[in-house]
Amino acid sequence: MNVWEAIATRRSLGQLDGVVDDATIQRLIEEGAIWAPNHHHTEPWHFTVLKGESRGRIGLEWAALAADELGLGGDIREKFEAKEQAKLLRAPVIIVVSQKVAGSPVQVEEDHAAVGAAVQNLLLAAHAIGLGTRWRTGKMAYHPWFKHALGLGADDRVVGLIYVGWPVNREPELAAQRSKEGLIDWITE
Ligand SMILES: Cc1cc2nc3c(=O)[nH]c(=O)nc-3n(C[C@H](O)[C@H](O)[C@H](O)COP(=O)(O)O)c2cc1C
Repeated sequence: MNVWEAIATRRSLGQLDGVVDDATIQRLIEEGAIWAPNHHHTEPWHFTVLKGESRGRIGLEWAALAADELGLGGDIREKFEAKEQAKLLRAPVIIVVSQKVAGSPVQVEEDHAAVGAAVQNLLLAAHAIGLGTRWRTGKMAYHPWFKHALGLGADDRVVGLIYVGWPVNREPELAAQRSKEGLIDWITE
């Protein structure tokens, strides 16, 4: 698959399943993600791979914490917890991509851009070998507890949870829409 085809046909997929072996995940990261452009070669990225039982365990802990924070009880709490717990089980592997936040404000901005580029490399590389992905964030991703649960430090910034698996259905849940209106200004003189 050439790069144009990969860009044109990659879409966020919700239903992901199957077994993705560790060597494949490692390849996506080592031969894909980290070849993103990176000013001053700061290598600001880190990857935490969640698979197997860890997804259920972390989901369970998060669900209880989130329910506590919302002050939920009874039936409502039960339903809320079940929904939250299930979230990390939507793919066999989740790669949590984080930024090591360091240096001047300019470096922090540039490093964040580099980590975004690394994520896109990862998404396209996965797509090129037939894997489906979905970049997710949300309340848990940005909660300080999550970084702690992953063994990340206070100076790490979660940029995305990349759900990875074999597509159950190639139809994206989200409509693919891009506007070309007012997109480009050509400055020629
Ligand atoms: C920073 C960031 C955060 C995102 N968070 C979520 C999310 O929490 N849930 C989700 O379903 N998609 C999330 N997405 C994916 C976008 O919704 C998706 O890329 C967009 O709808 C375009 O669809 P496509 O990827 O199929 O082109 C996120 C994307 C980015 C860049």
